[in-house]
Amino acid sequence: MIRFTSLSARRGMILAILLLVACTGKEPAREVQVIPQPQHITPLEGFFTFTRDTRIWLDEPDSGRIRTAEMLNERLAAAAGMTLAVEEQMPREQAVYFMSAPGIPAEGYHLRVEPERIVIESADGAGAFYALQTLLQMMPPEIFSPSRAPGIRWSIPCTDIEDAPRFPYRGMHLDCCLHFFSVDFLKKYIDVMALHKVNRFHWHLTEDQGWRLEIKKYPLLTEKGQWRKETVVGSLASGIYDGTPYGGYYSQEEVRELVKYAAERYVTIIPEIEMPGHALAAIACYPELSCGLEDHYETATKWGVFKQVYCPRDETFAFLEDVMDEVFELFPSELVHIGGDECPKASWKQCPHCQALIRKQGLKDEFELQSWFIRRMEKYINSKGRQIIGWDEILQGGLAPNAKVMSWLGEEGGIKAARQHHEVVMAPYPKYYLDYWQADPDSEPLAMGGPTTLRTMYEYNPVPEVLTPEEQQYIIGVEGCVWTEYMPTPERVEYMAWPRMCAIAETGWSLAPKDWDRFTRSLETHLGRLDRLDVGYCKAFRDPFIELHKDTEYSKVVTISVDAPGAEIHYTLDGSAPTAASPLYTGPFVINRQQTVSAVAVRDGECIGNVKYKNF
Ligand code: ACM
Ligand code: ZN
Repeated sequence: MIRFTSLSARRGMILAILLLVACTGKEPAREVQVIPQPQHITPLEGFFTFTRDTRIWLDEPDSGRIRTAEMLNERLAAAAGMTLAVEEQMPREQAVYFMSAPGIPAEGYHLRVEPERIVIESADGAGAFYALQTLLQMMPPEIFSPSRAPGIRWSIPCTDIEDAPRFPYRGMHLDCCLHFFSVDFLKKYIDVMALHKVNRFHWHLTEDQGWRLEIKKYPLLTEKGQWRKETVVGSLASGIYDGTPYGGYYSQEEVRELVKYAAERYVTIIPEIEMPGHALAAIACYPELSCGLEDHYETATKWGVFKQVYCPRDETFAFLEDVMDEVFELFPSELVHIGGDECPKASWKQCPHCQALIRKQGLKDEFELQSWFIRRMEKYINSKGRQIIGWDEILQGGLAPNAKVMSWLGEEGGIKAARQHHEVVMAPYPKYYLDYWQADPDSEPLAMGGPTTLRTMYEYNPVPEVLTPEEQQYIIGVEGCVWTEYMPTPERVEYMAWPRMCAIAETGWSLAPKDWDRFTRSLETHLGRLDRLDVGYCKAFRDPFIELHKDTEYSKVVTISVDAPGAEIHYTLDGSAPTAASPLYTGPFVINRQQTVSAVAVRDGECIGNVKYKNF
């Protein structure tokens, strides 16, 4: 029987360690550097060391926990060359015990590492899986190596951790329409999500620029709708096209495989089937789904919002219901995302059918027609035992009775929905938009806007303070959005998503108070794990961010910031490369037309990251 130590005893112990650290002035080598930060951490004496004699035992060997135990063995086999035996009889010591403990909150766990044993208690399989993620992050980062890491002692500092999530919905989105990504990459994406206790993969599958999901009843959707004849080069304003057909889609077999892969990692895949807008690829295949105002429809070749949208005819609803029937077969998720964003009303304004429908249904305008559209689809989806979630615009003309809202247009939609007692996932741009710049746009690849730095993402509070405590209960979680206009490759996706998604994951999971210094200290260790997992994260948070603010015609005010923990900034104004010996930045200053600001981040007397320049 494992007893929880009292809260005050735990706090006292943490304080003692902090004092010890303050007195010796050293980095706390035993600090638990896990992202997202666990709720309660109590350091204990000693270490547990994995050896070939270590055993695994499960008190309730259900398939989920068995798979989780296998995953521990998969890591140990790859990195340490050992595979632990799973015992039938409870071993007395030198074992990892997976125990069921009904009193622990959903997805939560109690992880106790003692010199002779590791005990993982949870009420559900998810909790055991998350305990494993914490445990792996407490091991040397080499545990994430794809191949044998020699000379490592596979030890874990003894610690007692009680942990449970702040929100039930911790999501990460990926748009696979603007650009297409292989199933192998999606598996890696889900692996990295799961490492961060992110449990919802919002898979954006249909768009103006391509339809990516095989639907057996409408084969043209992928035969034709996967393709666009070319793609705009650069920003959507360039007007230059690459002349190269672009396509890709997921077969139903691949979808089933990915859904199963995700479920083993306690990730639910939420498919997004866009309506009534962002439907041009489908309309290009089946023009009868549109208002019929044009002779010819083509999958979009540039980014943006298009006026060709679904016409709310019975035939359109029959099509969408058929698509949904296949979606329900493929995806066990209770929640289905129906898009709803950015639906221009121009076609509906001109369409005789739409105008007659507005009159017949007694609707005020096209916004109410949008609401009528979504309500009708919601009724069908609810009748099949599923629920809808949509972007803010589903609030237009009135929210469907059971809809959840994904708030992307800032927080307003989320606030409005919560006040109407509808559940909300906070995914606001620019705070949670991972397609925005993360550092100085002058030295970063093309992105959507911003910048939104790592620190800005970390500090964002997804529970608006203007809501009453009761209304705040309707915020069920957070999501980081990855729109891929400017992410043509997996490498670019990883570069944009990480490490900023670490910050969103921590906000979504952690009940511990936010602490930027602690987070960035953990992050420096954590990046060693991502390195071994071959995640191509962005390192720009270690670079100074120089901003020139408008002053007079002859002068600008300079501010310089850096997100790297414990770093200071040194700079020059004569064009020479700054070093640790250059003047220290202490606050905003003025430069004139002749000058170049050059800056570098310095920690413990060493330059870290890159030198950054900015000309007047
Ligand atoms: C969105 O970014 N259009 C939801
Ligand atoms: Zn119409």
